[in-house]
Amino acid sequence: MKRLAVFFTALLFGAAAAAAPLKPSHNAVASAQPFATRAGMQVLQEGGNAFDAAVAVSAALAVVEPYSSGLGGGGFWLLHVAKPDRNIFIDGREYAPAAATPTMYQDKQGNVIPGASLNGPLSAAIPGEPAALVYLNRKYGRLSLAQDLAPAIRLAREGFPLDPLFHSMIATRVNKLKRWPAAAAVFLPHGRVPPTGYLLKQPDLARTLELLAKQGDAGFYQGRLAKEMVDAVRANGGIWSLADLRDYRVKARQPLVGEYHGMKIISAPPSSSGGIVLIEALNILSGYDLADDSGLMQKHLIIEAMRYAYRDRADYLGDPDFVKMPIARLLSPYYAAGLRVSILPDQATPSRDLAPVTAMAPESRHTTHISILDKEGNRVAATFTVNFRFGSGFMPPHTGVILNDEMDDFVSKPGVPNGFGLVGNAANAIAPHKRPLSSMTPTFLETRHGLAILGTPGGSRIISMVLLGALDYFNGGDAKSIVSIPRYHMQYLPDVVFYEPGAFTPDEITGLVKMGYTLRQVHPYGNMQAITWDYKTGKVTAASDPRDIGTAEVR
Ligand code: DON
Repeated sequence: MKRLAVFFTALLFGAAAAAAPLKPSHNAVASAQPFATRAGMQVLQEGGNAFDAAVAVSAALAVVEPYSSGLGGGGFWLLHVAKPDRNIFIDGREYAPAAATPTMYQDKQGNVIPGASLNGPLSAAIPGEPAALVYLNRKYGRLSLAQDLAPAIRLAREGFPLDPLFHSMIATRVNKLKRWPAAAAVFLPHGRVPPTGYLLKQPDLARTLELLAKQGDAGFYQGRLAKEMVDAVRANGGIWSLADLRDYRVKARQPLVGEYHGMKIISAPPSSSGGIVLIEALNILSGYDLADDSGLMQKHLIIEAMRYAYRDRADYLGDPDFVKMPIARLLSPYYAAGLRVSILPDQATPSRDLAPVTAMAPESRHTTHISILDKEGNRVAATFTVNFRFGSGFMPPHTGVILNDEMDDFVSKPGVPNGFGLVGNAANAIAPHKRPLSSMTPTFLETRHGLAILGTPGGSRIISMVLLGALDYFNGGDAKSIVSIPRYHMQYLPDVVFYEPGAFTPDEITGLVKMGYTLRQVHPYGNMQAITWDYKTGKVTAASDPRDIGTAEVR
């Protein structure tokens, strides 16, 4: 085993030795909302680095896209520090309150109470984003926290015109928001969904951001704001305590590193499942030369790789501080070779022939990703969230902060699917101060010729989207192509391949059905943000998913 690990490590770090790159000619920012992209560009122009920009963009998204992410949520910030050449993963994932128990969302008969882990303060885990932003600024930024947060504070205080997407997000969540007066006061002024173009001001959120700017962690996790949040949560059926907030810490973790035909993959370790599933799938595919295969065969092999890797997600993964996971085995090329043996060239593998259980849920827009590169070569790929659209819907009065419903990413009961249709086992059971298993997959790709920074929202489909993006980059795609290519997805159970219009040719559809696949066409999904940098030409390309309203700037 040890020999295997040594060999594996050598393989990984020996791979993809990139030609020493010059510095990029431009800064680049891609995010899901134009005001947020602009906030990032602004702090870069003020002398900030990629990490300052990441704080500015993340905080601005908390204001202009609060249905996706915010101070009441959490996420992952994958960093590349150019000098000294280092990759770091900041785990700012929420954790469960200390009073949480494995059966807290079940009734006396042991049935899962529908919606209990999705709505209201009982569904909220302790937020990680404020701590992550402070950590990112203090440890890696060049500007003050107040400078990084300034654009967000201004957007919250002075307001911004509601875009059509934000309008529709509110319209689809009226019932959720209406239940909580503070949230309704902000998002349903005069009891109505505000029209597109409405100047949305969030003075409470501006004050909360200012408190964070002035006092750092203490401004959010202690003192007046903490007390206001805990009082409001407890008065409305939640179980937070002051100690839960006070004791929250981000975790700096080693990113996972993998390799695909010489391309290096740097991605999210647990408490995300993203990096493991991504690298396991690529390891399976490493045994093939996809370029020599027909389109049909390529798709077949990629779908099978997804199936096997997602199966292991359900079986093994959870918070690394709580569960032992066979990570070395899952990422070993020998393990992938073993899985490859059972993939037949002309036939789909029925998922029921494999072990445990996941199911599928519709994707919708909530969660966000940002990609940033600065002229010094520093990089950020970050994916963060309040989980479902507007999270728990609950806003503690006077805070302006929507709390997440990330508790739903735990397993409420073995075998019972969560909001994304995912099931799991004890590895992802609820426990005090444990982090729920995520699928968010912020990723860097490095080849001898250049690099890519990418990630997307999309629940369980995040990982398959990043996998397709990685393969596209390997095949010569730039940022625009990575975010645009049609997508397809298989997650072991249900035994169905979901695909966007245009993902398969008519012949491929016929061929896949003949192999035994069940196909289901779905609406376009995902909201990927990508940056590529070509070492040879020096060209930096940034792109925001054409399926949505985000923007990318190179300057
Ligand atoms: O951490 C996770 O995997 C989920 N909470 C992410 C949710 C998500 O991507 C929703 N996006 N459409």
